[in-house]
Amino acid sequence: MSQPIDDVDLADPRLLSPLRWDGEKKELWLLDQLALPAMERWLPYRDHQGVATAIREMVVRGAPAIGIAAAYGLALAAFRGAPLDEAAALLGATRPTAVNLFWALARMRQHKVVDGGAAALEKEAIAIHREDVAACLRIGAHGAKLLPEGTVLTHCNAGALATGGYGTALGVIRAAVALGTRLRVFADETRPYLQGARLTTWELHKSGIDVTLITDNMAGHLMSRGEVQSVIVGADRIARNGDTANKIGTYSVAVLAREHGVPFFVAAPLSTLDMKTETGRDIPIEERNAAEVLTLQGVRIAPLGIAARHPAFDVTPARLIAAIITEAGVARPPYPQSLPGLFSTTTALY
Ligand code: MRU
Repeated sequence: MSQPIDDVDLADPRLLSPLRWDGEKKELWLLDQLALPAMERWLPYRDHQGVATAIREMVVRGAPAIGIAAAYGLALAAFRGAPLDEAAALLGATRPTAVNLFWALARMRQHKVVDGGAAALEKEAIAIHREDVAACLRIGAHGAKLLPEGTVLTHCNAGALATGGYGTALGVIRAAVALGTRLRVFADETRPYLQGARLTTWELHKSGIDVTLITDNMAGHLMSRGEVQSVIVGADRIARNGDTANKIGTYSVAVLAREHGVPFFVAAPLSTLDMKTETGRDIPIEERNAAEVLTLQGVRIAPLGIAARHPAFDVTPARLIAAIITEAGVARPPYPQSLPGLFSTTTALY
């Protein structure tokens, strides 16, 4: 990205933003992430109920993108004269783990914003969207030099599609590639929802970044052969002590990385840091419908009548994380000391 990072143009196609706001018609358009990669389809949303359904059903997903969608959803509620308390409750009941959802709703409901009416809520939602992209660009700038040449493994999708645009973990990869670091990406397919196979490969390939798809159970083998030099993932919620909730399977990758001496990095905006939650044990873990495990792309893969579980996230303990990369700089262990300091500085900490 050549433009100054705070001068964000949300329509810049290089950002691959999955959300578009039509200020004339007061409509939110979402890139349908259920249809990717087969189809690039944009869907319009005119009320907060529709946005809540889109978040719950994962038309829009990824912690920062969920927060931004909810912010626009609240603006839509205001334009339609819906009670804001009820709209915020509906939007807040969609996905419990991504703290960006609650962060965005709280920011939208500050008195100075709400008192300004629908126009002020619209302005705030756009600001949240722009600031998230600016944060991703800064995360990329802070993290780019941390990735060694070779292969970086990522899990789930923490890219443009999961944010306002550009991405967190994939933003760091984009920035490293732009710096000239020779990088190849292993994308975990990320069962059961396949964000890696469907979304990460789609957006990296579109950006011209060398990406190879692997199934989740290949990571250990490839690490044991020295084929992975680093791991970088996003986060849905980071507790005060650095414990990090992210897509189910992230914890297993972190354990493997530790066993093989591979650095494991987390990239996330400050809106994902939850300083009110002390440790990972206190992070609510979303349990999704078991049907998403029993079927693959709509096709049943297990016998009828059997049970399945679908915890959608797990928690990686802080001790397995080499660094947490944010827009305010890079935090290193011990996180209870380094994370709070990020909120009082905008300069790099490394
Ligand atoms: O269930 P999802 O697809 O919303 O989960 C997404 C993830 O776990 C991402 O890694 C996380 O939200 C970080 S996005 C920058």
